[in-house]
Amino acid sequence: MYLTREEERILDGEEGEAESLALRVLVKVGEALGAERLVPVVHAHASGISYSNIGEPGLRFIEHLARMGGKVRVYATVNPIGMDSEYWPSMGVDSGFAEKQLRVLRALRDMGFELALTCTPYYLRRPKLGEHLAWGESSAVAYANTVYGARTNREGGPLALMAALVGRTYLAGMHLDENRRPTLLVDASWAGVGSATEAGLLGGLLGELVGEGVPYIVGVPRWREGWVKELCAAAGALGSLAMCLIEGVSPEAPKFRAELSGLERVQVEPRDLESVKEKLSGGGEPDLLYLGCPHASLEELRELARLLEGRGRVRREFWVGVSRTVFLEALREGLVEKLRSHGIKVWKDTCPVVAPLRGAGFRTVGTNSVKTAFYMPRMHGIGALVMGLEEMVEYAFRE
Ligand code: F3S
Repeated sequence: MYLTREEERILDGEEGEAESLALRVLVKVGEALGAERLVPVVHAHASGISYSNIGEPGLRFIEHLARMGGKVRVYATVNPIGMDSEYWPSMGVDSGFAEKQLRVLRALRDMGFELALTCTPYYLRRPKLGEHLAWGESSAVAYANTVYGARTNREGGPLALMAALVGRTYLAGMHLDENRRPTLLVDASWAGVGSATEAGLLGGLLGELVGEGVPYIVGVPRWREGWVKELCAAAGALGSLAMCLIEGVSPEAPKFRAELSGLERVQVEPRDLESVKEKLSGGGEPDLLYLGCPHASLEELRELARLLEGRGRVRREFWVGVSRTVFLEALREGLVEKLRSHGIKVWKDTCPVVAPLRGAGFRTVGTNSVKTAFYMPRMHGIGALVMGLEEMVEYAFRE
């Protein structure tokens, strides 16, 4: 791989031991993928930092990098962890787990990572068209490529961490024009997508259909921000998709219009979405309702508050997951207090998928998120039911 003078110096250890290790790893991975050179990134976002997922080896590795003196070179943020960093005792998280999780956070902070603890880094810094990123959260990767036309691969957790330390990643995959072309035309005119949940089901279908390709989606007349977020999260979870081109949303979509007639075409019907829903749903009546995968926006919290207007306290455990930035804004707006007055628990920094829920006693989670429904049985042995948000609220008050 071609390296610049500065990259040679980093590799030789002149900028520090951790940086040298990071560059070596990136070069090895890049060479395996046929990259000819590295590319500077403006924002790295590391996933895989929940102690629940990485355990002792992951903790030791991150602490090792910090002890070697590793420091981030670019704006760098991190994904959710296994608990709310403040309110963890009321989540039922044990202190042994919390102590290890806080050690992970200390090491990341010492290296200069902003402890955003969210899977929605685009709410903190909006990516720009054509800029290169190194992000490790699949839902955020698909969102950045699709909605902003920024360029990032689905980096494994350690790779995004390495990219943060040297401010570069390998020039391959979604960083290259040729891999951002549409591979399949998806006509959703008849699918009846009219909510975040249905957009998530369409995303789940695409994840299964498209593999690593790029679907070009037409036929949904009006997209809302939260719908695209659910679509990207589901497509990234049920498949290895890193990008969609959505007519009316994606800045790169118009330049491919002339090529669409040459693409294989798939027409999506309501029954296709129904079959994704059926495949993911199982496990009986939900005893936990969850909104916030990916982390909920302020607008989604407002919508939930509107649906609760004039009603009392929920009769079932109802959790909402947000970033700490959105949590603080919601606090200022009185939304957190309002939701809590209905018995809803608002957690920041975490989500049920990356928290150590096994053994918490829940049997089934009811959620508007296809991604959560996909992971709950796999990660925690807990059943799932895909529901619309209004349905979740109705269910929460049922006797
Ligand atoms: Fe985020 Fe957890 Fe979903 S990290 S995308 S809320 S699985």
